[in-house]
Amino acid sequence: MLKQKINTEKPDYKSIKPVFDSSKKRVYIETYGCQMNVNDSELVLSILQDNDYSFTKNMDEADLILVNTCSIRENAEQRIWGRLDVFRIAKNRKKSLKIGVIGCMAERLKEELMEREKIVDLVVGPDAYRSLPDLLRNVEAGQKDVNVLLSREETYADISPVRMDENGVSAFVSIMRGCNNVCAYCVVPYTRGAERSRNPETVLNEVQTLVDNGYREITLLGQNVDSYYWEDEKNPDKDINFARLLEMVALVDPQMRIRFATSHPKDISNGVLYTMVMYENICNCIHLPVQSGSTRILDLMNRKYTREHYLERIAKIREIIPDCSITTDIIAGFCTETEDDHKQTLSLMSEVGYDFAYMFKYSERPNTRAARHLKDDVDDEIKTKRLNEIIKLQNQLSLESNKRDIGKIFNVLIDGFSKRSNEYFSGRTSQNKTVVFPKENYSTGNFANVLIISCTSATLIGEIVEEKRHETITELKNIIDETIHLVENKIKSTIKSKIKKDK
Ligand code: SAH
Ligand code: SF4
Ligand code: F3S
Repeated sequence: MLKQKINTEKPDYKSIKPVFDSSKKRVYIETYGCQMNVNDSELVLSILQDNDYSFTKNMDEADLILVNTCSIRENAEQRIWGRLDVFRIAKNRKKSLKIGVIGCMAERLKEELMEREKIVDLVVGPDAYRSLPDLLRNVEAGQKDVNVLLSREETYADISPVRMDENGVSAFVSIMRGCNNVCAYCVVPYTRGAERSRNPETVLNEVQTLVDNGYREITLLGQNVDSYYWEDEKNPDKDINFARLLEMVALVDPQMRIRFATSHPKDISNGVLYTMVMYENICNCIHLPVQSGSTRILDLMNRKYTREHYLERIAKIREIIPDCSITTDIIAGFCTETEDDHKQTLSLMSEVGYDFAYMFKYSERPNTRAARHLKDDVDDEIKTKRLNEIIKLQNQLSLESNKRDIGKIFNVLIDGFSKRSNEYFSGRTSQNKTVVFPKENYSTGNFANVLIISCTSATLIGEIVEEKRHETITELKNIIDETIHLVENKIKSTIKSKIKKDK
């Protein structure tokens, strides 16, 4: 086992759960968009709680409503405009209510939000949350205020997020912000600015705090985690890349499950894959967005890899981590996409056999590379048709993947009740698949060994099996794995010596 020193002089971590205090002004926060936004809302709450605000889950009792927004596709923004209509009604009822728009749409549409929406008092971009207390003082004094400055340094490294999740089991930890890739369709580099990595010591401290507070699973977040890089000025030969950070995080507590998102096909290294197999608490699941199966489209998207490179990375994952699940993102109908390009996406999906996918219709975003240089020329009807074909195929692939799990036993982290019944728990496997099973005498936050007995395309259905049986099966599996390994090595060395002889 590698040893590491974790800084025990923690910053002054206060409560990591929201504080409800009716004597203070109350803030209600609604969050849209990605996991980064969920984590940002937790940072914002932390900043506000330190400045005499208290949290409320009830919009009607709020003095301040914050909506943390997303701009990734047009419909994401439409949804927010719709919510602002609802907040207008709330403000008409309670004149003292203040309304703030934060996050990616605040960054992108600052003036428009202020001008078009008279009810908005405050607009704050993702790198300006530290200024919230000052801005709120101005708002309280009757002014409107905006801060959407992007930063090259801000990582909020010293701020301990206040966790708003319900179950106390899973948490997000941001390891970097921004993005330096310029995928032609994507608005993120414009709303979140340049990429910067967070001091690893503060990441480890945050993970330790989560361990101390009973959390059992963390997800390390970044738009492209594989490009995480921290230079240690005092030890220039001790720079930390993502593989190393992952290892350091895995070592904080072997009982803490570790996940990460998002990996980029051009950057995911073998080092990361080897680290994943070395530590059992790093989950066997990789989210590797492909976007398209056509090299021509990938080139137009400026993704900087080919179909062949992507498939090579998949082959490597399968070789190093055979039971790793692979999930992806796909965009249907990007500029100039032909029927043949689309067929290539479908064939790549089948070749990889994704366990799960997020699938979208291309939505042109103002000022992106694609909006400036390419024509959004695939008819909406065709986009819809292609997206439906992609979804249909993925449903089949997910079902096949789930069927392959029937008869297997998985270690499942219980994260709550099943949606249908309080007699059933819901949890997730290392591969991030949802499993539903009768609860017996377990609790949320426990690990359970669950035998899979049936499935749908979205869910595995199982029952808890006894520890003994699981141990025997795991032992048997280890013996079989070892034997296969020995035989493989024997075959490899025989082939090698044969090649040498032939030469
Ligand atoms: N940083 C991550 C994810 C970014 S956004 C990555 O690089 O993969 C999440 C997903 O939204 C993207 O992977 C992409 O599939 C989708 N997306 C981004 N911009 C889009 C657009 N303009 N239209 C449709 N889908 C988009
Ligand atoms: Fe957007 Fe590409 Fe950056 Fe992901 S890697 S956030 S898709 S620009
Ligand atoms: Fe996330 Fe949406 Fe911004 S996906 S980074 S909240 S544009």
